[in-house]
Amino acid sequence: MPHQDGAGTIDEVGEGVDAGRVGQRVWVWLAAYRRLTGTAQELALVPAELAEPLPDDVSFKVGADLGVPFLTAHRALTVVEGGPTRLVPGVLAGRSVLVAGGAGAVGNAAIQLARWAGAQVITTVSGAEKGELARAGGAHHVVDYRRQDVATEVRRIVPEGVSTVVEVSPTQNAAIDAPVLAPHATVAIYANNGGDEASLPIRPLMTVNARIQYVLLYTMPEVANRCRCRCERRTACRCHPRRRGRRPAAAPLPAG
Ligand SMILES: NC(=O)c1ccc[n+]([C@@H]2O[C@H](COP(=O)([O-])OP(=O)(O)OC[C@H]3O[C@@H](n4cnc5c(N)ncnc54)[C@H](OP(=O)(O)O)[C@@H]3O)[C@@H](O)[C@H]2O)c1
Repeated sequence: MPHQDGAGTIDEVGEGVDAGRVGQRVWVWLAAYRRLTGTAQELALVPAELAEPLPDDVSFKVGADLGVPFLTAHRALTVVEGGPTRLVPGVLAGRSVLVAGGAGAVGNAAIQLARWAGAQVITTVSGAEKGELARAGGAHHVVDYRRQDVATEVRRIVPEGVSTVVEVSPTQNAAIDAPVLAPHATVAIYANNGGDEASLPIRPLMTVNARIQYVLLYTMPEVANRCRCRCERRTACRCHPRRRGRRPAAAPLPAG
């Protein structure tokens, strides 16, 4: 996500941070959350915990793509009843995942992570070009939600139903999701694309003991902890907009 995510090399470290990290390649995430500036500039200042080591054989471009989309997708795939809380290869073997909108940033990240973790991945898209993006991300099955009956197609592919739906548009898809859920499945809702309210078919959801789980990266406890301003206890803190008593000005972009 622009301004939140990025990648680069550590130039300097602050007090209390391992000086050995200078020169380290890193990817950073949520750089602009609760701070005045982010990554849309040459130099970014972030808490050390938000700068993750980036292996030498992974490009800065890949590193800059990780942040918000992949962390959101990881969360959506790990809030499932009885499922793993951390994705590694093989942990989703035997499970099926339906990703709504597999050509989107978060949707495509969910496809890649689910596939990497061993799940069977079905996704929906709105056309052929987006279908190619979803396939490139690793989707086993792509359904065109504008032209096909998604629930029928998903049931045909996975008669037993899916264990997880990664949902971008609950307003538009609630009636599609309910009939494709396996027992104890989770619908992980991370966005409100297409509308702010959804009508849930209660009986079908209740019958399979479904879970409707909301996902917002910024307020996940572990994220909130890492993003906390390190100078909160200092009276002169100017990091947090609310402490400044006014909205922050936009961070300047580098010239040229
Ligand atoms: N909860 C969080 O922590 C979190 C984190 C990041 C982003 N978000 C939110 O998530 C949303 C998506 O972000 P993004 O960066 O992935 O955006 P994006 O790259 O624009 O992707 C959005 C995708 O949603 C798809 N879509 C929309 N309506 C759909 C429907 N009815 N069925 C299936 N797919 C549908 C679109 O596909 P088509 O164009 O083919 O319709 C598009 O591929 C945004 O609202 C963003 O604010 C939330």
